[in-house]
Amino acid sequence: MQFLTIVAALATVTANVVAAASTFKPARPPAVPLAVRSPYLNAWLHGGSSGAILPGSWPRHWTGNILGWQGLVAVDGVTYNWLGAAPGPAPVNQVSLEYTSTKSIFTFDVAGKVTMTVTFLSPVYPDDLARQSLQFSYISVKAKSSDGASHSVQVYMDVSGEWASGDVSQVVGWDSGQSGDLVYHKFSRQAQEQFRENSEIASWGDWYLTTRSGSGLTWQIGADTTVRGQFANNRLLANSKESNFRAVNDQWPVFAFSHDLGNVNQNDVERVFTLGLIQDQVINFAGLSGQLEPVPGLWKSYYQDDVSAVVAFYNDYQHAYDASSALDERVQTDSENAAGKDYAVVTTLAVRQTFGALQYAGTPSKPYIFLKEISSNSDIQTVDVIFPAYPIFMYLNATLGKYLLDPLYENQESGTYPNAYAEHDLGTFPVAKGYPEGNDEPMPLEECGNMIIMTLAYAQRTGDTAYLSAHYPKLAGWAQFLVEESLIPASQLSTDDFAGTLANQTNLAIKGIIALKAMSKIAQLTLNNDSFCEIADRYLEGWKGLGINSQANPPHTTLSYGDNDSHGLLYNIYADKLLNLNFVDQSIFDMQSNFYPTVASEYGVPLDTRHTWTKSDWEMFAAAVASESTRNMFISKLANWVGTTSTDRAMTDLYDAVTGGYPANGPTFVARPVMGGITTTQSLSPEEQRLFRLYGKLPSRSDHFAKHLKERKYFDSGDYAMSKAGKGDSVDTGAVGSQHPVPENIPHLSSPVSGPNGIGSVLHPHHHHQHHPGLQAGSPVKESSFLHRETSADDSEGTPGGSEEQQQQQSPEAAAPATTGEQQEIPVRR
Ligand SMILES: *[C@@H]1O[C@H](CO)[C@@H](O)[C@H](O)[C@H]1NC(C)=O
Ligand SMILES: *[C@@H]1O[C@H](CO)[C@@H](O)[C@H](O)[C@H]1NC(C)=O
Ligand SMILES: *[C@@H]1O[C@H](CO)[C@@H](O)[C@H](O)[C@H]1NC(C)=O
Ligand SMILES: *[C@@H]1O[C@H](CO)[C@@H](O)[C@H](O)[C@H]1NC(C)=O
Repeated sequence: MQFLTIVAALATVTANVVAAASTFKPARPPAVPLAVRSPYLNAWLHGGSSGAILPGSWPRHWTGNILGWQGLVAVDGVTYNWLGAAPGPAPVNQVSLEYTSTKSIFTFDVAGKVTMTVTFLSPVYPDDLARQSLQFSYISVKAKSSDGASHSVQVYMDVSGEWASGDVSQVVGWDSGQSGDLVYHKFSRQAQEQFRENSEIASWGDWYLTTRSGSGLTWQIGADTTVRGQFANNRLLANSKESNFRAVNDQWPVFAFSHDLGNVNQNDVERVFTLGLIQDQVINFAGLSGQLEPVPGLWKSYYQDDVSAVVAFYNDYQHAYDASSALDERVQTDSENAAGKDYAVVTTLAVRQTFGALQYAGTPSKPYIFLKEISSNSDIQTVDVIFPAYPIFMYLNATLGKYLLDPLYENQESGTYPNAYAEHDLGTFPVAKGYPEGNDEPMPLEECGNMIIMTLAYAQRTGDTAYLSAHYPKLAGWAQFLVEESLIPASQLSTDDFAGTLANQTNLAIKGIIALKAMSKIAQLTLNNDSFCEIADRYLEGWKGLGINSQANPPHTTLSYGDNDSHGLLYNIYADKLLNLNFVDQSIFDMQSNFYPTVASEYGVPLDTRHTWTKSDWEMFAAAVASESTRNMFISKLANWVGTTSTDRAMTDLYDAVTGGYPANGPTFVARPVMGGITTTQSLSPEEQRLFRLYGKLPSRSDHFAKHLKERKYFDSGDYAMSKAGKGDSVDTGAVGSQHPVPENIPHLSSPVSGPNGIGSVLHPHHHHQHHPGLQAGSPVKESSFLHRETSADDSEGTPGGSEEQQQQQSPEAAAPATTGEQQEIPVRR
């Protein structure tokens, strides 16, 4: 708050106008997505208690690290700051911020003379692999007169080497280039380290800041104070670059463009920039071969080379804007129709965050989507992080589910993973090496259930029963594990691992039991013998006897069997509706629905009785299958939290339901893709959503999907013998409660003793010792000749102090880097 006052005071003093507080629509978010397209292009403006005011604030990587990104604007000869915290020019007055699913739109008042509209557009293309595979984002800057008079306007933007190296003592190199009428600055870490990160920032790849050349475009690369000072004093840049490549923090080199918009009147004048990262190989992956092999960025199949990709992305702006607006409209409308305007406050904020954790890789005939478990330990392909995010993929394009599951199947079907249960993750992003020693964080019941549920959900929505057949042996093996373990769960972690291990978790058990019912469907769809249906039915009856406190008023399920005073969100029953199983009794849904309001706090319903913390993804799972009034309670509390929380980093899914802040003595989760789980309601079928609106609950009905599939022509899948994976036919279904492999007995476990297990690494994000250099020995080292080439000796001469007169005498074209031949030669890269 103090910060806001200072900003307002400066603007008042300088511009002699009274700065009104910014408005926020639909809410002031915990953090504003600025450029959020992948784990490495993941830049935010801190909101919440930090205010969400762009002028005077540095954009931040999701880690909270500053990303040098400065915007200035000159109006009638006076320079102001509209982005970033460089000292000097006074900030413009932020009038409003509006966010949609793909855009963050700021409006600024500049001295009462000019209205600037700056749109940060990070498109999301659920149906378009080529476009989604590019790690680039758009920034549109518009200016128009706000007082009827004509004003001279120049707009400036730079970025620093901080984007290219998390270690600011690393040397960055740079150059500029031109392709057609586009000009770009390219910069990279000189010591390229493929598949390595420093402070979660990629240590390989080339960054590009691009804009359109033409009248009024000038550019400069040099020390931050030099370049920004040049613009502040002269309102244009020197068309020059320094040649001494140096550490990011050695006189902070910045890469800048300036557009002279001339005199602006009532009509908006727009300039567009793009910023992003090119990486050839994006993931090191042990797939079916069992060996680590580099996987190219999917973009490489669609674009000839780096510059082609940069140019294609830039020139695609109009399409990007239109497609993004259509998606914005779709998410907004569907959210409102499903559960009202409050719901859209949250769903629209979750879209970029979820897709921003994804890396598209492979080839068009074999695409992969790799997911980074951002902030909670940077695992790659964590099953119980994909699972909460899954509703957004089922909603927007179910095929994305397959691209996320494929790496998990391939790694496990290579035979290198030794455990009987499903693997938790594939390693530490971006190295998906799997766990040949079986020493992944053990969540046996959780991940077996998740894999079966997600696989069926994908197949139901696409009709891809071949996928079920292809993976039947694995699925049956996991189902067998559930037969042995799901009704009486051993002491183990669930996905909420920060809460530690616990035996007999009611919510975990029902996931396993629902997954057994799902497996019964899978067996039927693939013409395998179904031994699971009867077991699932029997387990459900057993579970109802064990997990419910029926004496309580109102009755509710317990956190763990027999712990009568305990309770928790029974979010896993959502899977029953997602899969349209009509398996869990409606009375269970109704019971929980009646119970939640009685234990709700200010900002939500606690996850369970161990803490006052809650998880917003799981709240939305519970809400999606609750009565209309309980669902609305969940949603209105969460929407209120979004607009009032003190948390100021990219939306957390874990917060204190009483204070709305980060959990005291708990992990700080940031920017996690699990927020995709906010769209639980839309991922139900339109018919289910309609019934919700009409009745507030889902009546039982027949399985349309099974009927539909009966008309399909099956491939023979009877070959998949149950015996391969388990003893499906010979299961002793009386063995309820068998205590088979408890995690403690499984080899290679880092045996959880007590307290928050497996989460220790969460609190120490810089543990990258798992990247074994030896494993990368065979990887091609990215060629970086471009930046290693020495630039000519006079590169740095330029005319940083050149007079305005000289600069202005240049022809419009001369302002474009490629034609400022006398200052330097700009290599055009093909
Ligand atoms: C889903 O995405 C894939 C590309 O991954 C695309 O081929 C398909 O057409 C999309 N589905 C729909 C319904 O748009
Ligand atoms: C789990 O619940 C079962 C059934 O109530 C009980 O027999 C068993 O002792 C419980 N296990 C633990 C570790 O509490
Ligand atoms: C817990 O509640 C159940 C009924 O829901 C009751 O049968 C049981 O005795 C209670 N256990 C304890 C320890 O109070
Ligand atoms: C299914 O069960 C029948 C009878 O028990 C048996 O003959 C057949 O081989 C089984 N099929 C598969 C795929 O296990």
